[in-house]
Amino acid sequence: MQITRFERGLRDRVAIVTGAAVGNGRAFCERLAEEGAKLVIADVEDAAATEAAVRELGGEVVRVRADMTSPSDVERVIATAIETFGCIDILVHNVGHYSEEPFELLSYAEWKKTLDITLDSIFHTVRGVLPHMKRAGFGRIITFSSDTVWLGTPYLTHYVTAKMGVIGFTRSLAAEVGKYGITINTVTVGLTATQNVQNSAMMSPLLEHIIPAQAVHRADEPEDIANVVAFLALPASGIITGQTINVDGGVARH
Ligand SMILES: NC(=O)c1ccc[n+]([C@@H]2O[C@H](COP(=O)([O-])OP(=O)(O)OC[C@H]3O[C@@H](n4cnc5c(N)ncnc54)[C@H](O)[C@@H]3O)[C@@H](O)[C@H]2O)c1
Repeated sequence: MQITRFERGLRDRVAIVTGAAVGNGRAFCERLAEEGAKLVIADVEDAAATEAAVRELGGEVVRVRADMTSPSDVERVIATAIETFGCIDILVHNVGHYSEEPFELLSYAEWKKTLDITLDSIFHTVRGVLPHMKRAGFGRIITFSSDTVWLGTPYLTHYVTAKMGVIGFTRSLAAEVGKYGITINTVTVGLTATQNVQNSAMMSPLLEHIIPAQAVHRADEPEDIANVVAFLALPASGIITGQTINVDGGVARH
């Protein structure tokens, strides 16, 4: 059997990255572009800065303003990918929503919003890309959970419930789509020094607090997560699927 080698990287592979405007999503776009991927970047907010960063790296990119919980917006993102680049090889489904609330004060609206952005968006987006990946006999899907699912962090019942759902979805779908050359894996991300986290009065003190609890005593950077995403997206990673990969400096060890 021929084992795919690394030399080709992601040259000419087409990747959709959702939640691409800021933070980890922007780092993923830059990393995938460095590997040669062509990008469709989707966000409910303006992702012009990400587009500019990718172009600066010499990457091909098209930007779509889209709410990934809306089936018609998701269809538009997928149609743009096909019309512009002809295929979809990689889906990096990164959109997320984070809030802290004691369970007894949590509104149903916030519970529902968290589940919608985390899980409904996966339903629509993955359903949309699968027929294209199946036709091509190739696909790499990467989803995002959180290390809080292992840590049992308080005030996050809504968030942890949704992020556990991402793991279940990923494991089960992997068993359905492996025969088509499609892999799906999830990354449990630790507290990461994105711009939003650094700017947040609530989150930035946590960054300092969590470093001594890590096995590696430095902040997780978006580029750390991006390296894992680039690896999972490679053709050479085709035997890895249904996995949950914890990237948090070793806070959660199991
Ligand atoms: N940064 C961390 O410390 C951390 C920790 C654990 C898990 N994660 C996960 O990693 C992913 C990215 O994290 P981040 O910190 O960069 O997030 P972020 O909140 O800084 O950015 C999320 C992006 O998703 C976009 N988005 C939100 N809802 C959307 C929707 N309905 N449609 C389209 N776009 C939408 C936002 O506009 C934003 O650009 C998320 O899934 C998050 O849950 C992050």
